[in-house]
Amino acid sequence: MYSEKFQQSLKLVEEARERNIAYEPDRMTAKQKEDLLAAYHPDYKQDQFEILKIGPNKGEKVPCELAEMLQAHSRISNISVDLENPDYDVDVLVIGGGGAGSSAAIEAHEAGANVMIVTKLRIGDANTMMAEGGIQAADKPNDSPAIHFVDAFGGGHFAAKRELLSKLVCDAPEAILWLSELGVEFDKMPDGTMVTTHGGGTSRKRMHAAKDYSGAEIMRTLRDEVLNRQIPVVDFTAAIELILDDKGNAAGAVLMNMETRDLLVARAKTVIIATGGAGRMHYQGFPTSNHYGATADGLVLGYRAGAKLLYADTLQYHPTGAAYPEQIFGALVTEKVRSLGAKLVNVNGEVFMHPLETRDVSAASIIRECSTRGNGVDTGDGQGVWLDTPMIERIGGEGTIMKRIPAMWRMFEKYGIDIRYEPILVYPTLHYQNGGLDITPDCMTTGVENLFVAGEAVGGIHGRNRLMGNSLLDIIVFGRQAGKSAAAVAANTCVGKLSLDHVAAFEAEIASSGIETEAVSPKLLPNYTGKASI
Ligand code: FUM
Repeated sequence: MYSEKFQQSLKLVEEARERNIAYEPDRMTAKQKEDLLAAYHPDYKQDQFEILKIGPNKGEKVPCELAEMLQAHSRISNISVDLENPDYDVDVLVIGGGGAGSSAAIEAHEAGANVMIVTKLRIGDANTMMAEGGIQAADKPNDSPAIHFVDAFGGGHFAAKRELLSKLVCDAPEAILWLSELGVEFDKMPDGTMVTTHGGGTSRKRMHAAKDYSGAEIMRTLRDEVLNRQIPVVDFTAAIELILDDKGNAAGAVLMNMETRDLLVARAKTVIIATGGAGRMHYQGFPTSNHYGATADGLVLGYRAGAKLLYADTLQYHPTGAAYPEQIFGALVTEKVRSLGAKLVNVNGEVFMHPLETRDVSAASIIRECSTRGNGVDTGDGQGVWLDTPMIERIGGEGTIMKRIPAMWRMFEKYGIDIRYEPILVYPTLHYQNGGLDITPDCMTTGVENLFVAGEAVGGIHGRNRLMGNSLLDIIVFGRQAGKSAAAVAANTCVGKLSLDHVAAFEAEIASSGIETEAVSPKLLPNYTGKASI
């Protein structure tokens, strides 16, 4: 139920609904998209970026908040760490307990490796758990990995590393089978075939989902598999620095117990970074759809050890974060809402864009509507546009919302808004880091041997913009690959003498480049207290 101040605009939205359902807005031309992005997308705001002064990507720009973390002091810069008596000694160390880390651990275990997961929160406290809309795979007769590739390559501005994107789309059907066999309950038709829908920028319906809690269903299954296999999981324990050996290869990590702050050492023949995203960095002050621990830790750990970043200057702002009520400000409103027929309309009830443009274009379009065009709805805390959810029931029939997006219904119902009958207010929210550590298709970093990466900490799979459903896919495809590769390399690796010399060298680089900072990294958790963090 909306208060009085929204009623005038709501009336216009309701009056225009039937007309808007029938209206098919044009897709933008390539030139229109380019101009829109340059003027309104946050990635194009040059004053929000900084040129790195040190490290493997020296001379390249990254968001200011990330630059601060990449060029910060180590948490162990003044501490002596006993590397001679490791607390853990394993073949494969997986840092991160989300979908990518769990998939990696399962495959490394399957290959016979002695694998351990460390995670700063608990297994499953991850962006995977919060993913809603689905996972793409070209497994229907009218589709193919080649068509999937073309959609994703175009959507990512032709910048994806071809060999990574090619692996993503080719391994996708097998990823769905693997998940199904592990126990993921995808939505199915009465005859057992998978229900698939469109996402922004897809030319075929290839989004497989478990209603609108697809990530939770996948994470539940992966977590069960990890626990059933009795893979050790060390929770509430963060990796705060990588350890190399005397050959310069990754050989473990310094860990910190998040409660006691005690340091521990894990020695490993290979290391997999699966630390996820960076929404809690709140780039440019945006709210986020991400989980509490998404603070770009893996990028910092890898960078300091010598691994290169790719496209760290590009972020994804999901077009439809909740803009009202304030209790759920920034929470994800799945793109599936638009796949099911809801259109975006402005304060006057006018459709102002095609509902399934790619995410960067959709986000920029909403920002334009609320800024220079002055067509946003004043929420009290900011601006938003309407996402006309009652259209879904009109198009798909009564019951569609409860059947296909029940979690969305519940999220708003808690605040007295019934999305079957009332539209919702949305605005872009920080959702995904398109960039991350550069890898080869076997998931090894470029720069540090025996250091592997999977999931959102990888850069380059999606280019400069990711399509919906390709992230749940990449955590499975590259998570599994990282586990297999790391286990295979570990089988032929003899770890040399452990060393933290790279940390001292990085500190020396900070000093010689004239960077003056008191920041320490990785950040580990966001700080909303207003007091200095530790
Ligand atoms: O809109 C969504 O459900 C998000 C999906 C994704 O980021 O892949």
